[in-house]
Amino acid sequence: MIHHLRAAGSSLVLDARGSRLPAIVHWGADLGDLDERGLTALADSAVPAVGPSSIDLPLRVSVLPGLAEGWSGRPALQGFWSATGRAIGALEVREVERDGLLLRVTSDDGSDGAVVVTEVELTEHGVLRIRHRLRNDSRDRLELAALDAVLPIPDRAREVLDFTGLWTHERRPQRTALGLGSWSRQTRHGRPGHDDPFLTVAGTAGFAFRSGEVWAAHLAWSGDKSVHVERQPLGPAVIALGELLAPGEIRLAPGESYTTPWVVGAWSREGLDGLSARLHPYVRSRSTVRGPRPVVLNTWEAVYFDHDLDVLGRLVEAAAQVGVERFVLDDGWFTGRRDDRRALGDWTVDPTVWPQGLHPLVDLVRSHGMDFGLWVEPEMVSPDSALARAHPEWVLGEPSAPTWRFQRTLDLDHPEAYAYVRDRLVALVREYPIAYLKWDHNRDLLEPVAHRQTMALYRLIDELRVAAPGLEIESCASGGARIDLGILERVDRVWTSDTNDPLERQQIQRWTGILVPPEYLGSHLGAPRAHTTGRSSDLSFRAATALFGSAGIEWDLLAADDEQRARIASWTAAYRERRAALHTGTVVRADLCDPALLLHGVVAPDRSSALFAYVALAAAEHALPAPVRLVGLDQDRVYRVRPWTLVDRPAVIQDVAPPWVLEGGVTLPGRVLAEVGLPMPLLLPQQALLLEVDAVG
Ligand code: DGJ
Repeated sequence: MIHHLRAAGSSLVLDARGSRLPAIVHWGADLGDLDERGLTALADSAVPAVGPSSIDLPLRVSVLPGLAEGWSGRPALQGFWSATGRAIGALEVREVERDGLLLRVTSDDGSDGAVVVTEVELTEHGVLRIRHRLRNDSRDRLELAALDAVLPIPDRAREVLDFTGLWTHERRPQRTALGLGSWSRQTRHGRPGHDDPFLTVAGTAGFAFRSGEVWAAHLAWSGDKSVHVERQPLGPAVIALGELLAPGEIRLAPGESYTTPWVVGAWSREGLDGLSARLHPYVRSRSTVRGPRPVVLNTWEAVYFDHDLDVLGRLVEAAAQVGVERFVLDDGWFTGRRDDRRALGDWTVDPTVWPQGLHPLVDLVRSHGMDFGLWVEPEMVSPDSALARAHPEWVLGEPSAPTWRFQRTLDLDHPEAYAYVRDRLVALVREYPIAYLKWDHNRDLLEPVAHRQTMALYRLIDELRVAAPGLEIESCASGGARIDLGILERVDRVWTSDTNDPLERQQIQRWTGILVPPEYLGSHLGAPRAHTTGRSSDLSFRAATALFGSAGIEWDLLAADDEQRARIASWTAAYRERRAALHTGTVVRADLCDPALLLHGVVAPDRSSALFAYVALAAAEHALPAPVRLVGLDQDRVYRVRPWTLVDRPAVIQDVAPPWVLEGGVTLPGRVLAEVGLPMPLLLPQQALLLEVDAVG
């Protein structure tokens, strides 16, 4: 049978006739209402010619393409039987079940005993999900090397965008022309890493935020991954994603099975913004987040390891004064943790620093109406810790293997090690009214156990959430090295990056935000001089940058004067007032020709209002920059556009502002704003102008 899944303007057609593995014959625009005859004609007409010097059948690329079907690209399923050394044979379909927009295809390799269940789904948001489960029904052991989800993309998708990055510079975009061959990315960090490919987008030449047809895919997984985009002289181009498995990592004994992570994909004809328009509602629909995202104060860059109740108490008071709602005590609270060289694993409150436990601090925080959060790094252990000394067998790797930030990884596959960490975490959240854990992970894994370690991490979080209902968790991995849709189904926030420099943050948030909605992206107001870059910036620029995320403060407020604190308080008030709109709206980004300038915003779902930020990253190319078009509004409505002062007006270099700015705003149809745009003030570098937009009439 041929299945047509349709949702939110997108279609997926799966040809699942007969016993051959099914093939995706269309993934893209909605094809409308096709009856059985229409679908048959579509699938039949999609059959290509038989080429010279090729197999004597039309090539058909299935959801598990491999050599047996004449596919010379990388096989989706790679594995062999341990006793004979024979590769897993060709699969044939036994059953196709449909449940609404979810298809479940069961195939097997005949008598050998490999059974694969492939699930393909188009969610109500028009998001494609696909995964496989491989079961060993034989009496032999099955050694698995790879199991990828493979998605065909049309020939017109000739450009690829994905990401790389470094600590404090995550999500750096990179583009490549898709030639014949493959663009292949593999990550081996035991976490996605700072250089995570993150989201792989293939599209028509020159696709941008607002234009171009694009197909994108992401692996919802927090361990190692393999992603490739491949174009062959024979056959269509594909995007393929799967877990990167180390040799011997997945050995299925009889009766055992392995399930791949979900691959999450989206198609759009409206460029990258069109992808976000599908992916954000999908991510939101699976969210653990309940209630408004509080203003956080994190102590890290204020005090680092220097924990002192008196200082922290004054920080609590300053935090309350400026409108903080959640006070998070970062690294440095547990026994012996005076620097980053020791004590991970010893998850008891340090009695020398905190003779009465954390109670005096927690009580103070709560007496000011804030809730309390605590930093932990549960998967780690310092060699110099009571835990490592008592249980060297719980530590992964040889003692001679290199440490990383002076730490090692705890073997969560070891039942006692796992139980120890779980019990310590449960004890902490039972002893203290902890609303929130910042869950860090500050090193790569150098052992080939990423799969089991990631599974154990998921189990640990899941168990903890059951033990402590209502507990919120932030995923941090030296900043943004573990941001993926696997972890995001289990946590409420991600620490987007360790940099609080707004100039870096504008780019990091812009690109991370293609996949992840703003309410998940921890974004803090840092010190005037950024600790990670040494760059100084105005409070207004830092405030405008941190507003478009899950906002917080990471600055020693004791060093801020009264006037600065008053301005911070006005910023937190503005965030509280606007967060409902910022955290539910549609994220839009304009394509400006000048790379020094950005325009991004959030438009209300009913397009009755919007908030935009026009940002100068550096000096503009032109003395008189081109008018900026306001994107994402309803072309048939009329809007009032007003400059909105968040903390201070942005600094400008102009003799006279554009008249509409001097007059405090302008009223124009959405069509005019989108087609003609508005001239902007000449901002100095590192300044942002906020624009408040409201439909009138
Ligand atoms: C790395 C994190 O990304 C920082 O925010 C901070 O929590 C430190 N670890 C603490 O060690």
